[in-house]
Amino acid sequence: MAKPTIAVFASGTGSNYQAIFEAIENKTLICDLALLVTDQPSAKVIKKAEGNNTPYAACNLNDYTSKNTFESAILEQLRIHKVDWIILAGYMRLIGPTLLQAYEGKIINIHPSLLPAFPGLDAIGQAFQAGVKVTGVTIHYVDEGMDTGKIIAQEAVKISENINEQQLQEKIQLIEHELYPKTIQQVITSLTD
Ligand code: GAR
Repeated sequence: MAKPTIAVFASGTGSNYQAIFEAIENKTLICDLALLVTDQPSAKVIKKAEGNNTPYAACNLNDYTSKNTFESAILEQLRIHKVDWIILAGYMRLIGPTLLQAYEGKIINIHPSLLPAFPGLDAIGQAFQAGVKVTGVTIHYVDEGMDTGKIIAQEAVKISENINEQQLQEKIQLIEHELYPKTIQQVITSLTD
C-alpha cells in the first residue's frame, strides 16, 4: 500500500518539523514528507528544509489579495505534491475555510499547553504567568476555532518551583518532539489502513 503523504506547516524555528523529518528517517514514522509550507519567507525552518532536501513553499499572505487566494495558492502546492495530511507545527495562523474544506478531518496541530487551558499565542508564557503547577502538550484535529478541535493526545509537564520560563519551554519541546511523530503515526495509519 502507498505510504500516506504529509505536508508540515511552520512559521518559525522548525524544531518540530526537524523531529518529524528525523522520525521518518529513522522509520519510526512511516510516511512521505512531501512539502514544507511556511507563511514566513525568512523563517528559520526554511534553512532546515533546504538542509534536508524537503521541497518547500513560502507563501506570504501580503502577496495575495485575500486569505482565500493565499490558501488557494497553498492548496495548489498541496495538490501538486499529492498531500494527504496537513501537519501544523508552529504554524501561527488560523486555517481558513479553503484549506479546512479541502482537508476536512485531515489537519492536525500541536499546542504547548493542556487545552482547553491557555489557547492562542504564547501558551507557555501564559501558563508560567498563571502560576499553574502542571501544563503540557496537546495534539488535536483542527477546526475553524483557535486551538478548539477534538483532542487526540495530551501529555502533562510539571512546573517545578525553581524552573524558569526558558527551561519550561525546553522541557515542553522535548516532549513535543517525541509525542508528535508518535501521534502522527497513529492518526495517519488508523484512517489509511
Ligand atoms: C511549538 O512549541 C508548538 O507547540 C507551538 O509553537 C512552537 C513551534 O516550535 N505552537 C503553537 O503555539 C500553536 N498555537 P518549532 O518551530 O520549534 O517547532
